[in-house]
Amino acid sequence: MKGLVAGFSIGILVIVCIVTAAQYTTSLKYPSVTVDIQGQGSVLGDFDTTLWTNQKYMQFRGIPYAESPRGKLRFKAPVARLPWRQIFDATRYGRRCPVITTVSNLTAQELKADLEDCLNLSVFTKDLITKRPVMFYIYGGGFYNGSASDHPPKHLLEKDIVLVVSQYRVGALGWLTTFTHDMPGNAPFMDILLALKWVQDHISDFGGDPDNVTVFGQSAGAAMTSALLLSPKSTGLFKRVIVQSGSILGHWAINSDPRKQTERICEALNCGVCKRNDELYDCLSKATVLDILEVTQAEDFALVINDVYGNLPEHPIELMKSYNRSIPVMTGFTKDDGSFVLATYYDGMKAAIGNMSLVKVRQFADGIMNLVNDRTRLSNNLLTRLLFTPQILNGTAHKEALPAYFDLCTTIYIKSPVIALTTQLKEKNLADIYLYSFDYEGQNTRFGYELGNEHYPFNGGVHHSNDNIYLFSTHSLNDNDTRMAQKMVELWTSFAIDGIPSSSEGPPILPMNSPSGPYFHINNEITISNDVLDELTSTLDDPDNKKIDRENIEF
Ligand SMILES: *[C@@H]1O[C@H](CO)[C@@H](O)[C@H](O)[C@H]1NC(C)=O
Ligand SMILES: *[C@@H]1O[C@H](CO)[C@@H](O)[C@H](O)[C@H]1NC(C)=O
Ligand SMILES: *[C@@H]1O[C@H](CO)[C@@H](O)[C@H](O)[C@H]1NC(C)=O
Ligand SMILES: *[C@@H]1O[C@H](CO)[C@@H](O)[C@H](O)[C@H]1NC(C)=O
Ligand SMILES: *[C@@H]1O[C@H](CO)[C@@H](O)[C@H](O)[C@H]1NC(C)=O
Ligand SMILES: *[C@@H]1O[C@H](CO)[C@@H](O)[C@H](O)[C@H]1NC(C)=O
Ligand SMILES: *[C@@H]1O[C@H](CO)[C@@H](O)[C@H](O)[C@H]1NC(C)=O
Ligand SMILES: *[C@@H]1O[C@H](CO)[C@@H](O)[C@H](O)[C@H]1NC(C)=O
Repeated sequence: MKGLVAGFSIGILVIVCIVTAAQYTTSLKYPSVTVDIQGQGSVLGDFDTTLWTNQKYMQFRGIPYAESPRGKLRFKAPVARLPWRQIFDATRYGRRCPVITTVSNLTAQELKADLEDCLNLSVFTKDLITKRPVMFYIYGGGFYNGSASDHPPKHLLEKDIVLVVSQYRVGALGWLTTFTHDMPGNAPFMDILLALKWVQDHISDFGGDPDNVTVFGQSAGAAMTSALLLSPKSTGLFKRVIVQSGSILGHWAINSDPRKQTERICEALNCGVCKRNDELYDCLSKATVLDILEVTQAEDFALVINDVYGNLPEHPIELMKSYNRSIPVMTGFTKDDGSFVLATYYDGMKAAIGNMSLVKVRQFADGIMNLVNDRTRLSNNLLTRLLFTPQILNGTAHKEALPAYFDLCTTIYIKSPVIALTTQLKEKNLADIYLYSFDYEGQNTRFGYELGNEHYPFNGGVHHSNDNIYLFSTHSLNDNDTRMAQKMVELWTSFAIDGIPSSSEGPPILPMNSPSGPYFHINNEITISNDVLDELTSTLDDPDNKKIDRENIEF
């Protein structure tokens, strides 16, 4: 094989002479492997083992696929990485794309580094020669956060697949646009497209099959993944997709006024004149990374419609009308996917009002619904009627309203956009569409993320991102959770291998044959249901729903 220039566990002596001292000290203790990426250069990787059966795999972390998007390249479409001569040390993850929590902690000296140099990807593989199915992961993080290093592969590599986790730009440094060539828009989406092209060109050097690529993404990554389905720019780059807990049809997936946001951020940077496109670009291209991150902490980012390069030439609803690709899709949500929204909203309300018995349930619910811009208020009115009794609505018994708050947040943020995606794809009848609800409550949760969740008067239920606890080896798992992880890995990799999710236990999983189902529940057992609209009131209808209440904490 041309791709393989040095066998397993040899090559250290050669490499020592080439890489700098700082780089080889970390890899010296371990066997290493070098791959020659055709047309790019060589990368040095190392080994690790899978969690359950101790299979050895190779990892090449932080392989650059694009030039650093700094200086004149900031905001621009990514530029493919020029070939390199020396062996590139890919034994550690590269830096994550700039996020305030990381950058605000850097010393003055560290701030001088090229903080934007983050466009790299990591490849995990057990075999450099076989052509194995490729799973390409797009992380979430609200379009402002996320990194490859948050997604370790020790579960997924139990199966015979090649995993690629690509980084992409996040926050203002990625998403700002004036719809001009200086700031074309959707740069992070183009990062992902370039990384997918890299996979087409180079993954066979790592034992991957470029004709067998499954893209999977979660949350903001799910918005990106479903945008890939609809974008005219992604033809031929993948065969299947998995869309976890989000969709491009969510109101939060599209930035409704990006031009105004760019002006606002320019003004916050005190640049003086912030009206004309060239003024905006002049200001924003010269601002430091830290300054931009500091003034954008309260901004929301998302994809934009009608970017200069035509990645999303129309609203996704319009693109859906002419959609004609036969790509199998598996998509779904976690049972309480929107409890993170309730938590954030609760924090804001609590800070503003203090004593929540001053707020009626109707006001509280209205505030949640107003996060979505439904000008007709049709959905607001219907949701209010369906989820709340008149008595609860007119009082301040927030604890009694908790199940309805859960269903409200989960429906408008995640379940409805996901169901809208599946029903519209299903109507096309071009390929199999699978839908799941992840219902398993394990020992770990992402509720509260890094900030803790102890102060909330409710717990997070089956929280947003809890499915990923089982796909990626981020937590230490007890026996039951490990069984769930094995089940998730079976389901995800089987879909990636042949387009049909399957599990060694449980009933066969069928694609949808109507807009309502069938769909499957992932829990200790896999079960099949037939009317997905039942999921819109899954917490209200749960006889055991008192368990989301933390009785000892006042609302
Ligand atoms: C990450 O990618 C950039 C290129 O975009 C590269 O310069 C950097 O060295 C990469 N890898 C590591 C391990 O830092
Ligand atoms: C970004 O993600 C990292 C890792 O999950 C986390 O530690 C950090 O707090 C996050 N930053 C922000 C601003 O949310
Ligand atoms: C970063 O700085 C904050 C205070 O500014 C501190 O609380 C936090 O522990 C620091 N994090 C790291 C990783 O050093
Ligand atoms: C699919 O749709 C695209 C864009 O609308 C169009 O260019 C193409 O010809 C269509 N292909 C088929 C097979 O209908
Ligand atoms: C909030 O207000 C209610 C009624 O006005 C009162 O009974 C309750 O003690 C207050 N709670 C707190 C924490 O101040
Ligand atoms: C709502 O409650 C107020 C008193 O708090 C009462 O005057 C009013 O009649 C109630 N409305 C409904 C529709 O129950
Ligand atoms: C583990 O799973 C078994 C069977 O699914 C169940 O009966 C048991 O209660 C679970 N244990 C815990 C600690 O969740
Ligand atoms: C993808 O890979 C699997 C496993 O090697 C194989 O069975 C399948 O036929 C491949 N699919 C395509 C479309 O090449």
